Amino acid sequence: MKILSKTEFHLETERLILRNWEERDRDFFHFINSDETVMKFFPFRRTREQSDKLMDTLQDNIRERGFGFAALEKKDTGECIGFCGLNACHLEPVLPVETIEIGWRLSPDHWGNGYVTESALKNLEFGFNELQLGEIVSFAVRGNEKSFAVMERIGMKRDPARDYVHPHIDDTHADLKQHLFYYIRPPQ
Ligand SMILES: CC(C)(COP(=O)(O)OP(=O)(O)OC[C@H]1O[C@@H](n2cnc3c(N)ncnc32)[C@H](O)[C@@H]1OP(=O)(O)O)[C@@H](O)C(=O)NCCC(=O)NCCS
Repeated sequence: MKILSKTEFHLETERLILRNWEERDRDFFHFINSDETVMKFFPFRRTREQSDKLMDTLQDNIRERGFGFAALEKKDTGECIGFCGLNACHLEPVLPVETIEIGWRLSPDHWGNGYVTESALKNLEFGFNELQLGEIVSFAVRGNEKSFAVMERIGMKRDPARDYVHPHIDDTHADLKQHLFYYIRPPQ
């Protein structure tokens, strides 16, 4: 198993640290990738092996690009509670190459406290000020109202013209195919 660097990515908000993935996160990471509540709007649940592999990929992305879906750590307890970050999408031709999305996943016992909103706002600031991005997008399955509520709280706008049907989700999960699209651009 890879040893993950602990020094490459670090942002802070009032209550949270956004950081690299660490070996101690693996049990928790598997939990948020296999829990029925967290994964309600996804067509799969990851095994431990698949979850470990994804964590390595997320960390490789952070190492290679300087940003990615980063671990969210609560400052007061030191526990990892989920992830939030910017990510280069690979969903051509539905989305243009190098479309940068913002995404999140949080353990249900920490929902309802504004942690994702807080960390997403930090990521937008980082994306516009440090990465000089011209646009950050987000999307979710129709019905994922908690995710849309985060998008709206952080100032993202709906763009129905860019809604899409996910090309890799088959008809056995027909209710998970339609995705609604949001975007935000840097303040003028
Ligand atoms: C989407 C998801 C991250 C949203 O979590 P969340 O806790 O609702 O989002 P936030 O952390 O921004 O918290 C907002 C909630 O905290 C409340 N809140 C409390 N203090 C707050 C604060 N300081 N700032 C903002 N909101 C605050 C809000 O009123 C809101 O509560 P409500 O849902 O009852 O209206 C979570 O539901 C999740 O992980 N879902 C599963 C994974 C998933 O679907 N990811 C997205 C795939 S596209």
